[in-house]
Amino acid sequence: MTMAMEQQHHYDLEATIRERHSTRKFHSTPVPRALLMEALSLAQCAPSNSNIQPWHLFIAEGVRRDRLKEALLAECKRAPPTVPLLPEEFKHYRQELGAKVYGSMGIAREDKQGRAVAVMRNWEFFGAPVVAIVCLHQDLGWADAMSVGMYVQTLLLGLTARGLGSCCEVSLAAYPDIIRKELGIPPELVIICGVAIGYTDFDFPANRLRVERAPVEHNVAIIDSD
Ligand SMILES: Cc1cc2nc3c(=O)[nH]c(=O)nc-3n(C[C@H](O)[C@H](O)[C@H](O)COP(=O)(O)O)c2cc1C
Repeated sequence: MTMAMEQQHHYDLEATIRERHSTRKFHSTPVPRALLMEALSLAQCAPSNSNIQPWHLFIAEGVRRDRLKEALLAECKRAPPTVPLLPEEFKHYRQELGAKVYGSMGIAREDKQGRAVAVMRNWEFFGAPVVAIVCLHQDLGWADAMSVGMYVQTLLLGLTARGLGSCCEVSLAAYPDIIRKELGIPPELVIICGVAIGYTDFDFPANRLRVERAPVEHNVAIIDSD
């Protein structure tokens, strides 16, 4: 591991929130188990509806991770992946993000083959040595899904603060049966997404991509008294 990877483990919350970004190419360097456990135990602090703590993670590394990857890639080749579809009015977000992400990888809009190869890397976890599958009990609802989201963000921040990169991957939910079988996930748990975890390859231009956020007013209405 290089010094760059060992870089600052800082615990300044605001800086950590701003530093976290999706990593789409990882070094194969293993993730120290102690760091992973620290971030996982921090994430347990997340709030949840009725303190249900409804998050369930199934983490694969080493041979189990390799086997999962092989099974997913084999299935991708057999049946082209269908990433969970977005409703019509939201589709443009995925297109705009895709243009930015693939553009930063040097793939032209009309290069269908290049794009397909890049998309396929989702199911290799972008080279991450660790992949977590995030699940929720099928009988729980939106507030519980939100609790899982709060947990995942806490986890991502805990990883960021420890110098680790991550990428949430709804794309993994495209093949729930394969993941279920490989990792022994019981039928009552719904697979929401994956999280790829490892050291970010900062030489990969797409890892330096910073996608914009809307201004607060776009998402928040402050209803003043008058
Ligand atoms: C629930 C969830 C699912 C996501 N799924 C994918 C995915 O399948 N593939 C991918 O490349 N990025 C995925 N992302 C990453 C988003 O594209 C990314 O968070 C967003 O564009 C903002 O960029 P940033 O994370 O770099 O700040 C996902 C993010 C979330 C929160």
